[in-house]
Parts: sequence; C-alpha cells; structure tokens
Amino acid sequence: MARLRLSLVFPFLLLVPVPVLAQYGPYDYGFDVGSHVKRQFSSRRVVVQTESDDGEIHVRQEIRQLEKDPELWTLYILALSMMQFTDQDVPTSCLVPDMAPALYGSQVLRNLAQYIASLWPEPDRKRFERAARRFRIPYWDWAASPPSAGSVFPASIGALPFVDVTGPNGRQRIANPLYSYSFRPLNKTAFSRAPWNYWTNTLRYPTSSAPDAQSNNSQAAINFDRNRPSIAQRLYALLSNYDDYNKFSNNAWRPQSPNASYDSLESLHDTVHSLSGGIIQGRSPGGHMSYIPFSAFDPIFFLHHAMVDRIFAIWQTLYPDSWVKPTPAREPTYTHKAGQIQNASTPLTPFFANDNGTFWTSDGVRDHTIFGYTYAELVKQRPITSRNAQQAYQARVKAAVNRLYGTNSPATLFMNELRAQGFKEVGVVDGQINDKLFASTLGGRIFDGDHYHEWTINIRVGKMALGGPFSIHFFLGDPPADPDSWTISPKHVGTMGVFGHADKEDAPRIRRRNLDADFSEEDGITISGTVPLTAALVKEVIKGELASLAPQHVESYLATRLQKRVLAPGGKVFTVECVRGLKISVVSSVVRAPYSEDELPEWKPGANMHMEMC
Ligand SMILES: *[C@@H]1O[C@H](CO)[C@@H](O)[C@H](O)[C@H]1NC(C)=O
Ligand SMILES: *[C@@H]1O[C@H](CO)[C@@H](O)[C@H](O)[C@H]1NC(C)=O
Ligand SMILES: *[C@@H]1O[C@H](CO)[C@@H](O)[C@H](O)[C@H]1NC(C)=O
Ligand SMILES: *[C@@H]1O[C@H](CO)[C@@H](O)[C@H](O)[C@H]1NC(C)=O
Ligand SMILES: *[C@@H]1O[C@H](CO)[C@@H](O)[C@H](O)[C@H]1NC(C)=O
Repeated sequence: MARLRLSLVFPFLLLVPVPVLAQYGPYDYGFDVGSHVKRQFSSRRVVVQTESDDGEIHVRQEIRQLEKDPELWTLYILALSMMQFTDQDVPTSCLVPDMAPALYGSQVLRNLAQYIASLWPEPDRKRFERAARRFRIPYWDWAASPPSAGSVFPASIGALPFVDVTGPNGRQRIANPLYSYSFRPLNKTAFSRAPWNYWTNTLRYPTSSAPDAQSNNSQAAINFDRNRPSIAQRLYALLSNYDDYNKFSNNAWRPQSPNASYDSLESLHDTVHSLSGGIIQGRSPGGHMSYIPFSAFDPIFFLHHAMVDRIFAIWQTLYPDSWVKPTPAREPTYTHKAGQIQNASTPLTPFFANDNGTFWTSDGVRDHTIFGYTYAELVKQRPITSRNAQQAYQARVKAAVNRLYGTNSPATLFMNELRAQGFKEVGVVDGQINDKLFASTLGGRIFDGDHYHEWTINIRVGKMALGGPFSIHFFLGDPPADPDSWTISPKHVGTMGVFGHADKEDAPRIRRRNLDADFSEEDGITISGTVPLTAALVKEVIKGELASLAPQHVESYLATRLQKRVLAPGGKVFTVECVRGLKISVVSSVVRAPYSEDELPEWKPGANMHMEMC
C-alpha cells in the first residue's frame, strides 16, 4: 500500500540516460560569466560576512520553503548552476567531510547570487538585489515528516535532470544543478579506480557499476521514506539525551562510553550519506555520497551539511554550557596529525578568518549568527537579557523539536493521551493522571505512570573492518533474501551505515599515539552508532503482537524476532555471523514523558543491557 502511494506521489523519472543528462547546459546570460566565477574561487578562502550584505541576520530556509519564494529560488538555482559550470580547481582539501564546507559553499553561493541579481535589467534588478541580500543557503530536513503527502526526498533534487528558470536573459531550460554534478573535467588522478575514473557525473543509487550507470532517485526517495522514522527517533534522542559536546558530536567509541550514548550527530550524518548515495544495493558500489572523498561533489551534500549545521545550532541552544573539550584528534587531516590535542582555540584550517592568515577557531564560531544567518526555530524576537527570557526561548525551541521530531516517540503519544483525557497541558500532578492513563487501553501497556522504556540497539565496529563502506541492518522477523529489498521491507527497523575507506591506499595512515578512542591497526578506529527500536515496538504493542514495552515482555519478543544482516562491499551478505570486531547489544533506558510541548523527555541516567547479538 505504502509502496503504491509512494510511486504515485513520487513520479520520478526512473531512467535518465547520460546523453539526456548531457543535453542540458548552464544558463545563457548572453555573455561569458566564467571569469567572474573563477575570481570567486581563486581568492583566498576567507570566510566573512559578504560586503554587500545588509549586516542583518536572515534565516536559512528548508529547501521546500525556499522553493515557495520565486526570487530566492531563482537566485539559488542560477547561483548553483553557475558554480557548477565553471571549470575550477577547487582543491579537494576544501571538500573534506566536516561541517565547514557548508560554510564556505554558503558564502560562494551568496556572492554569486548577488552578482546574478545585478545582471537583471531594471525594474527587476532592485527586486532581485533585495532578495539576494537575504539569500542564505537552504537546508534539507531529512528527519521531519514531509510537508504534504510527498516524499521526504525533495522532488526538486531528484525528479528531473532539467529545470525551467526565468533569469536575467529570459526563460530557459537548464541542467538541474540539484540533480547531479558533471565533473569539469574528471580528474583521473584524484579518481584513480573504476568506476570513479569513468563516471563523469555524480550518481545516487547507480543502476550498475558500468560506465552508462544511471541514478535511481526513486530508490533514494523510497529508502529515505522508510528510514525517516528511525532517523527522527535518533535525532529526538540526540536532542533530549546528549548533553555533552564530545558525546553528541562525534562517533568515536571509547572504552568508557556510556551504554546510553552510543549515538552521535556524526553517526546520524553518516547514515544520511549512505542513504543518499546508496550502499544498500547489492549490485553496485553505491553513489558518490557514500564515499567521504567524493561526497562533496553531489549537490545534495550542501543541503545535508546545512541541516547538520542546523541540528548543531539547535543543540547548542538546548545545552549552552557544554562545549569543545581538549581531545586528541582521532584521525589525521591535511593539517593535523592523529593524536594531536585539539581544543576550542585550535585553528579550523583551511578556513581563514581574515587576510592576515588567521584561521577561524571553534570559539570564534560558537555563535553562528556572526555569519549573518540563523534558522526559523532559533530567531530571537528580542535580545535575551534575563534567565526567564532564556527559559522561554529554550521552551520555544523544545516545542519545535517536539513538533518536528517527536512524532514517532511515546512522548508525543503521552501528550496526546493527556489531551484526549481533557487534561490541560500544565499543572498536572503525577499521581492524578496515573490512574486515568492506566485505565486507557493503550496507556498502561506503553507507560508506567509517566515513565516509559526507550529501546535501542547499540553497535560498535572497526571503521575499516570490511575494507570499504558497509551497512548493518535490523529486522523484526525474517528479512527478504534480496538486499535491494531490505530497506523497503515492512520488517526493517533501521540501518547503521559505516563510512569505511575503499581500500588501504585511501585510508589515512593512522598510528596509535595517545588516542583515547579504541583502535586497532587492522580495523582502524572503533566507531559507535544506534538503531532505535521503540517506535517499531510501540507499533507491535498497538497491533497486539507485544504485551507491553516493559523489559519482561520485550526481551522474549526480541529474542525470537530481532535479526541482523551485514552488507559488505561488493554485495557480500553476512547473516548470522558476526564480523570481526562487531559488537551489538540491546539496551533500554527509563524515560519520563513530557507533560507539555515546552519540555523534552527526561532520560534517567544509565541503561540496562538486555541481550548481546555479537
Ligand atoms: C588532480 O588530482 C590530483 C590529486 O588529488 C592533484 O594533485 C592534481 O592537481 C589534480 N589536477 C587538476 C588538473 O586539478
Ligand atoms: C529504481 O528503483 C525502483 C524502486 O526500488 C525500482 O522499482 C526500479 O526498478 C529501479 N530502476 C532501475 C532501472 O533499476
Ligand atoms: C555497559 O553495560 C555492560 C553490560 O551491562 C557493562 O559491563 C558495562 O560496564 C557498561 N558500560 C558502562 C560504561 O557503563
Ligand atoms: C589549544 O590548542 C592549541 C593548538 O591547537 C595550543 O597551542 C593551545 O595551547 C591549546 N590551549 C589550551 C588552553 O590547551
Ligand atoms: C589579523 O587581523 C585581525 C582582525 O582583522 C586582528 O585582530 C589581528 O590582530 C591580526 N593579526 C595579525 C597577526 O596581524
């Protein structure tokens, strides 16, 4: 049923042969704009407020929101297209997968948007110049329910290889700059192995590893729609249960890592990369987004990283006192050795803060609004000067988190039950509601008073254990035999994607120094992540398949139902075997449900381990 609905609401062209792709080009302004764009790139990478900005803070909008604003959308499409159709030697060092590229890409796009606006003849020029001043790079919210009945994977980035745009030189059909990037030219030194050395444009869910492989964006859409509840649960848990910067931010597993915080923003970010590029297919190596060194070439990269920026900013608002602690670098970068201590004042190379060679630091960018942007949820109506004002501001942010990411959590069920029983959102005394909730058919099976159990699969594994990117999948019941059908199976409960390097040559040469993270020469650094089980278990309770969320019922239920599969590079499937170094366990935490939308669920300290699968 859902599959049918998807194919109806998501009329993606399934096949877009390469010659068709190549038939669309850039916007024709009537003169050569290339030299202007080259100047944008060749200037030293100084990230600053653009000069012609009005000095105001404007919001980065969700891509579907931006699409509703004709001027901003036109500028966005034209600026991206201009960026892509200029031969450029942007060093790949600026395309490393951290949060910085979104910042740099954001600035280049803003400058290009302002330049393009200036090309309109009057009377339109003023209108576009005004719009360009408030132009900020959009983000793609891959965790919230899509606004209408559509897919969480926006049609604007995957439906069509072309787009019709009315620019300064009239209406034209151009290559859709969100669909794919064509290398200009493909650098066979940087892309030394097949299929990367013959794929001339970026691909998602490539149909094969042959030179004529095509993107299958409808497969990306289906996979995102299936995985969205899992992604939303992870994000909701990260925002409500991870109050420490080091745990929240990165996926390193340390021997002292608490059982209740195996997840991280980085691990969730990795999963979105894998779901965008597609390593879950059996017969192809996955697209560019699934590989660290290639991912920034897919235009979806910037939309994803702007979302990661946004989550980080929301998290900072909720936990303003937690910040970067001195930590040894886990892996080397172009300018740091593994093991080197990094702190809040370590230079964020290669991002120059000014012309005299000073780099940005974490402390310097702690407040993102210095770059002139913010997000709708974080707009402050007035400066915050008191503790009360700060609490009211945080309450508003929490309400947004509940609305956007809490819908798959028992927390929302609890608040809905309260409302259904006629309780006001505030001032409910615990004792008063307990009996009523127990009396409701569902309440007593999900909640114990105002508490419930959050169920999570904890995973840790060596990043290099399988010599390439791989994924671990979980099911309640027997999965289909064909890996291509796994993520669309109703039994599928979630995936952890691991961003391993393609082979030893690509692997950064890591030597153990005084790293506190777990590490082996052979398998690389040990990383951790989670797959949430709670929403799937609640469904089973509602269906009557599971008596309650309490450990005595869930343990025996999972013992017979929970299954895992590991999909290794090259399509090899591990069914019951445990890959070397892989540890999988199921844990539960006790959580107090929120009484109003202004609160987040409160996770009690610690987690109980119930079963070990590996
Ligand atoms: C191609 O990539 C290699 C390795 O990354 C780099 O050294 C070289 O400068 C690149 N060539 C061009 C023309 O960009
Ligand atoms: C693309 O993916 C869809 C959904 O999984 C599938 O039905 C279709 O056959 C795929 N197309 C190709 C050419 O592989
Ligand atoms: C995690 O749980 C296991 C099993 O209950 C326990 O042995 C271990 O000490 C726990 N780890 C931490 C850091 O609490
Ligand atoms: C922070 O790290 C830098 C080098 O990255 C170092 O020079 C500085 O002394 C460190 N500061 C503190 C307070 O540890
Ligand atoms: C570099 O410029 C910044 C501001 O533009 C200034 O604060 C700093 O002192 C300068 N540093 C050097 C070494 O000139």
